[in-house]
Amino acid sequence: MNEAEELSSGSDRSTPPQTPELLLTTTRFVLRPVADSDLLDVGRMYADPAVVAGYPGGRTLTLGEIRRGIAYWRKQWSEHGHSVFVIRERIGGAFVGTAGLCPTDAKGVAELGAVIDRNWWNRGVATEVGAALLTWGFDVLALGRVVMPDVSNPASAHLIEKAGGRITARNSNTTSWEVEPGAFRTARDANVDR
Ligand SMILES: CC(C)(COP(=O)(O)OP(=O)(O)OC[C@H]1O[C@@H](n2cnc3c(N)ncnc32)[C@H](O)[C@@H]1OP(=O)(O)O)[C@@H](O)C(=O)NCCC(=O)NCCS
Repeated sequence: MNEAEELSSGSDRSTPPQTPELLLTTTRFVLRPVADSDLLDVGRMYADPAVVAGYPGGRTLTLGEIRRGIAYWRKQWSEHGHSVFVIRERIGGAFVGTAGLCPTDAKGVAELGAVIDRNWWNRGVATEVGAALLTWGFDVLALGRVVMPDVSNPASAHLIEKAGGRITARNSNTTSWEVEPGAFRTARDANVDR
């Protein structure tokens, strides 16, 4: 089976689902560490040119690249206890996207990222999932800082700003952001109180 056939068949040659180590739940979604069994869903999302348009080169990814990406994220999970989650609807389990807090070279600092399936854009997914990830990162992982370097997507910049983030660097087309626990909690509580 070639890659296009594999993507459209729904059959998955990868290993069976692994026992989830961790679940985060929000009002609408459930997040669990990305697994080999998510390959085709994640692969379909990264095969959409609109999804990758904001990334350097704007190139869609092959299933082989996604396989290697999942292996890399699984390694981060086992070595650091945090990395990328798959997001699914709580009711029905439909695939929604991926998001996570990836380790960086600096201790106590993680990088926030989210890639949402195009069918779900502008429906508040990144807002809802981002708040859950930051709460988990600061309250459970006790991170000192969460960063988003080289942000080119205006929606991402808007979301991190709403979460209490501040700009740490500006380039011609991108901004880099960081958010600290106190600033996030103040912003989160202000949003909840509204
Ligand atoms: C960026 C992305 C994660 C946003 O996810 P989403 O679930 O659609 O975001 P939400 O619906 O939670 O919120 C979108 C917010 O951004 C705002 N927004 C959307 N487009 C915008 C734009 N061009 N400029 C400024 N704000 C924008 C929306 O109005 C909304 O703000 P509000 O809640 O104050 O009304 C999603 O579009 C995506 O996955 N894009 C492709 C991959 C990517 O670029 N990821 C970012 C790298 S970390």
